[in-house]
Amino acid sequence: MNILLLGSGGREHALAWKLAQSPSVGQFYAMPGNPGIAQHAELIEGIPLSAHDTLVTWCKDHGIELVVVGPEAPLVSGLVDKLEAAGIPAFGPRAAAACLEGSKLFTKELCKANAIPTAAFARFTNAADAAAYVRAEGAPIVVKADGLMAGKGVVVALTTDEAVAAVEGIFASGGTEVLIEEFMTGEEASLFCLVDGETVLPFGSAQDHKRAFDGDLGPNTGGMGAYSPAPVLTEELERRAIEEIVRPTAKAMVAAGTPYRGVLYAGLMLTSEGPKLVEYNCRFGDPECQVLMPRFRGDLLEVLHATATGRLAQITPQWSDDSAITVVYATRGYPGPHQVGSEISGLDAAEADENVLVFQAGTKQKGTKLVSNGGRVLNITATGSSLGEAQARAYAAAEKINWPDGFYRTDIGWRALGNAKA
Ligand code: AMP
Ligand code: GLY
Repeated sequence: MNILLLGSGGREHALAWKLAQSPSVGQFYAMPGNPGIAQHAELIEGIPLSAHDTLVTWCKDHGIELVVVGPEAPLVSGLVDKLEAAGIPAFGPRAAAACLEGSKLFTKELCKANAIPTAAFARFTNAADAAAYVRAEGAPIVVKADGLMAGKGVVVALTTDEAVAAVEGIFASGGTEVLIEEFMTGEEASLFCLVDGETVLPFGSAQDHKRAFDGDLGPNTGGMGAYSPAPVLTEELERRAIEEIVRPTAKAMVAAGTPYRGVLYAGLMLTSEGPKLVEYNCRFGDPECQVLMPRFRGDLLEVLHATATGRLAQITPQWSDDSAITVVYATRGYPGPHQVGSEISGLDAAEADENVLVFQAGTKQKGTKLVSNGGRVLNITATGSSLGEAQARAYAAAEKINWPDGFYRTDIGWRALGNAKA
């Protein structure tokens, strides 16, 4: 089967690594890819992922039989609709279903209409009414802008003044509606499910570390590390999350005539009343995907193709009992301003341990050298029979990498391992 993988991050390198192991892979292309992905696929440059029509034509010309979409933006903007209209199967939801990530308001209304547990909310189209509501409810309280904000649209306000400032900021920068949510307390965990209409197949759990520095301090990032499984998401809590949150969502999407197909990533808050939905994403997490793939034992191409073509019900995935952890090696300064272009070496030494994989994110090939090319650059990933063993292997491997311009957190996994450094 000829396949095209879209994206250029560590998530896509992990997908490429696993897809390449499938016995049915024919020609394997990636757009735009990165040097890590190039170990498994032929990179195609020059077509932006937003150029849907050009992309569809390219796929037809190259006999592509499955497109695997890594990031959310092409899903939300309807690339899968275009591919399917041209008869090309794609892994990922159509635009009307990708709304579960693309519009927080859409998801909140869907939860309300279907009694899906989530934070209570109110929505406002002007700052004065929103501010009055915030003052009446009190803090802590959560303020959200609608739409794809790459993680920047959420303010967890500890005071009402902070919440009011966030509301005013959203309207001042052109927002037309805000969402004010009840503040939920509990531990957060991510649950991944493959969804094909009403068929829901659990596809692993993970927890990530969003803050830049040890002890969960510093600014929010796209994720500085993750591990799988999430021990806090017990079998019983996972069952409840599927039955009370994911399955009713899948049913509601079918009933609305916009069935979901792809991976549905549920961000959960494990509250004293049970799991509640924080948010949905319509793709794999980054760096969560990097810890799911090393634990997945089946044929990823078969599973993604079955999801894309309405045959998910026939699949029984196999998982390793091992734990996996990934440590993000980022450029100093990230998530703020940072340099690119510094040389990285020692990847082979790091990967000498057969339990270690280094997935590349923001990297670039410059002649024979590998150089940094972004904020999150490498994902040092390891497996082990326990999370502690995986963690020790990942950090031993990270020390073998020579990249003076980089930094990583030294406490990934602390919550699960109970060794808080804060
Ligand atoms: P994101 O949308 O991924 O930027 O996530 C926002 C983060 O804000 C979540 O991971 C939670 O930590 C937090 N958050 C969002 N909504 C709530 C809520 N209603 N109560 C408490 N924390 C929240
Ligand atoms: N690591 C969070 C995300 O992929 O959204």
